[in-house]
Amino acid sequence: MKKIIVGLTGASGSIFFKKLIEELVINEQEIYVIATSNGEKVFEFEIKQNFNSYIQSLNYEHLHLCDINDMFNKIASGSFFIDGMVILPSSMGTIGRIASGTSDNLLIRSGDVQLKEKRKLIIAFREAPLSGIHLNNMLTLANAGAIIYPTVPAFYLFPKSIDDIISQVIGRILNYLDIDSNLTKNWNGN
Ligand SMILES: Cc1cc2nc3c(=O)[nH]c(=O)nc-3n(C[C@H](O)[C@H](O)[C@H](O)COP(=O)(O)O)c2cc1C
Repeated sequence: MKKIIVGLTGASGSIFFKKLIEELVINEQEIYVIATSNGEKVFEFEIKQNFNSYIQSLNYEHLHLCDINDMFNKIASGSFFIDGMVILPSSMGTIGRIASGTSDNLLIRSGDVQLKEKRKLIIAFREAPLSGIHLNNMLTLANAGAIIYPTVPAFYLFPKSIDDIISQVIGRILNYLDIDSNLTKNWNGN
């Protein structure tokens, strides 16, 4: 069982978060969820469900909903081993805070820890268009070891529905975490 942190922020695309969590539950992984206050609000706006009720409805004993203000949580320390962290959807605000090393809440601190410990940090962002500030922050994070993943589909896999698009993105993210899924095909020549 891998230990995976999943961060939810106030970018559009809560449906990606929902799919990732549900796949991690199906795969019986240990999940630590940290949501920003805007992450919860955008989730409720886009999914039309209360965030806490949604987490409770999963009824999964290995899912830990972490208080974003709790710096005493074990995941705030590099001495507690985490296999990987995914922030999705990631806002530009969260990217800017991690890139500048503020470590001022549990989500930002956890991202900082993943980078300093040379562990996996996948930042799946949503914003368009991107300013020079956004691009510089993402370059800083990529140079520090993060995987910067845009939540866009590969049309060469011929997605036919929104669910296909979501599955494709989540399948690739699970690949980075070394977790098997049938969500997407990898390109294998023509
Ligand atoms: C409906 C809605 C959609 C948003 N979509 C995005 C987005 O796609 N990308 C982004 O960077 N910010 C987006 N924002 C703005 C962020 O929520 C805002 O910058 C927030 O402060 C981010 O903080 P957080 O990273 O702590 O969640 C959106 C806000 C709302 C209300």
